Amino acid sequence: MISITTRTKEFIQPLLYKDDDKSLDTIMYVCTTEINQGPWQNCTIISADRINGEFTKTHGHYHQENASDETYKVLQGKGVFVLQKKFISDGKWDQGRVKEVFFVEAEEGDEIIVKPHWAHSWSNVGKNPLIVLDNWKDGHTPDDYTPIIKYKGMAYYLIEDKGNITYVPNNNYKDLPQPRFISARDFAINNY
Ligand SMILES: [Fe+2]
Repeated sequence: MISITTRTKEFIQPLLYKDDDKSLDTIMYVCTTEINQGPWQNCTIISADRINGEFTKTHGHYHQENASDETYKVLQGKGVFVLQKKFISDGKWDQGRVKEVFFVEAEEGDEIIVKPHWAHSWSNVGKNPLIVLDNWKDGHTPDDYTPIIKYKGMAYYLIEDKGNITYVPNNNYKDLPQPRFISARDFAINNY
């Protein structure tokens, strides 16, 4: 059965670059689940707001270790998909570090495949709502979200500066790798 969830600024406030306690009931994004449109199961609409310069973003999450790949497709708008890879050392996941970070630049029609070890979060870097579809059927557990909450967001914050996309490291993580901007097409070709 289709269900709709709205996410307000209060929901993502702990993950913001700069704390912002104004207008906490402002809707940041809306998720519609079980849409069953061909391969697509969920649709997320992300507002084009900026919060102290930071682009509106989704919460960000990991998947479980034995998860399948997930595919996203941009239906409308302009987004940057932030992807960060788990840092595994001696067989143990160090949640306070990440192995690699990509900022995948995506526009209408682009598809991005997410492999199990990559946390992911959308930022709407355009001037209109960003609408993305995904094929995720397996639901989530709290463990998918808790590392992102614990470290107050993804590894970098995306900020608008004079019309450009800039990034600021999240210093709650240790030894961050240099992030790489990449087009959705090149990300797919390289099969990261
Ligand atoms: Fe996901």
